[in-house]
Amino acid sequence: MAENVTLSVIKADVGGYVGHSAMHGDLLEEAKRRLGSARTQNQILDFHVTSCGDDLELIMTHRQGVDNQAIHLLAWEIFEACTEVARRLKLYGAGQDLLADAFSGNVKGMGPGVAEMEFKERQSEPIIIFMADKTSAGAWNLPLYKVFADPANTAGLIIAPSMHDGFRYEVHDVKGKKRIFFDTPEELYDLLVFIGATGRYIVKAVYAKDGEVAAVSSTQRLALIAGKYVGKDDPVCIVRSQGKFPAVGEVLEPFTMPHIVEGWMRGSHYGPLMPVPVRQATPSRFDGPPRVVALGFQLAEGRLVGPRDMFDDPAFDKARQLCNDLADHMRRHGAFEPHRLPMEEMEYTTLPQVMDKLQGRWEEIPD
Ligand code: F6R
Ligand code: MG
Ligand code: MG
Repeated sequence: MAENVTLSVIKADVGGYVGHSAMHGDLLEEAKRRLGSARTQNQILDFHVTSCGDDLELIMTHRQGVDNQAIHLLAWEIFEACTEVARRLKLYGAGQDLLADAFSGNVKGMGPGVAEMEFKERQSEPIIIFMADKTSAGAWNLPLYKVFADPANTAGLIIAPSMHDGFRYEVHDVKGKKRIFFDTPEELYDLLVFIGATGRYIVKAVYAKDGEVAAVSSTQRLALIAGKYVGKDDPVCIVRSQGKFPAVGEVLEPFTMPHIVEGWMRGSHYGPLMPVPVRQATPSRFDGPPRVVALGFQLAEGRLVGPRDMFDDPAFDKARQLCNDLADHMRRHGAFEPHRLPMEEMEYTTLPQVMDKLQGRWEEIPD
C-alpha cells in the first residue's frame, strides 16, 4: 500500500518590497535554494515557493506527517535566512512575523501561518492552494461554506452520488481556544450561527463523511499570539478537488463574488477580496485591496506537478472589475465604519495607543 503524503503550506511575512506591497526576488531565491537542497537530501519530496503580496509561501510535500518538527524547523530556518536577506536589502518589516527568537518545536504560535494535511494520494490528485494578503484567517469561511455546503455553488452536492451525503466542518473558536464539528447539510444552520462571525469562528478543516480530509486552512491570528497589533494574518488554505470532492470549477466559483474581508490598510479596514494571478498579487492601492491567489497542482507520488495560476483567467476579469467598483465605494467612506473595522476589532490595531492619549479629556455629560 502506498505511503501517505503530507502537504504543508507554511508562510510568513519576513520583509516587504516596497513597503508591504510585494516580495523581493532575492527572498524567493534564498527559499528555493534551501528547499532545493532539502529535496536533494530527501527531507522533502517536492516544493514550490511563491508569494502573495509581502508573504513568502513555502509549499512542501513530504512523508513526515503534519506538525512534524523537522519540517517546521526547515521552514523556520528559511524564514530566518530570508529575514537576513531582507535586512541586508533593508526591506520593510524584515522578520515581521517571526514572533519568537528561537524555534521551539512547532512554528504554530510563533508567527508563521500553517495549513497541512496528510492523505493517501488518489489515482489522480488535483489540489488547489489559496493564499491571501491583507486579510485574516476568517476570510476562507464564506468560500469554504459555498464550496462544501451550498448547492447553488457546488452542483455536485446535488448531482454527484459521491458528494450527495455532504461534508463535515471543523470550526475553531480562536478566542475561546475550542473546537466543534458540524455535519452538513443536516446542521447547516447551526454551522452558520458561528462561521458568519469570521473574526472569532474559523473553519479549520472540512472532511468527507467517511473522514477523509478535503480542506485545511491556517487559523493563526497574530494579534492573539502577540497580544498586540503586529500586522495581519494573511491566511492560506488547501483544498482537494474532483471525484468525491468538489470539481476545480466549484472550488474556484466563490471567488467570482469578491466578498468583503477585514485587513485592508493597517489591518483596520474592510475591503473586497480580489482574485488575481500571482504576478498581480501586489496590493498597492491603499495597501490593497486584499488579494487572493489560487495555485493548482496535480500530485504524482508527492511530486507537485504545476502550478497552474488558476485566477489567471479572463473569467475572473468581471470579479476584479466589481472588486475595484466596491473598493471605490468603500474608500469613499474614509474614516467611517463600515469601511473601518468596528471598535472591538480595532482593539487589535494601533488605534488604542492614540485613544489612550485622549483618556483624560473625557468628562461627564451634565444632566
Ligand atoms: C495591512 C498592512 C499595511 C500596513 C501599513 C502601515 O495589513 O500590512 O497596510 O499596516 O502599511 O505599516 P507600518 O505600520 O509597518 O508602517
Ligand atoms: Mg508586511
Ligand atoms: Mg502580508
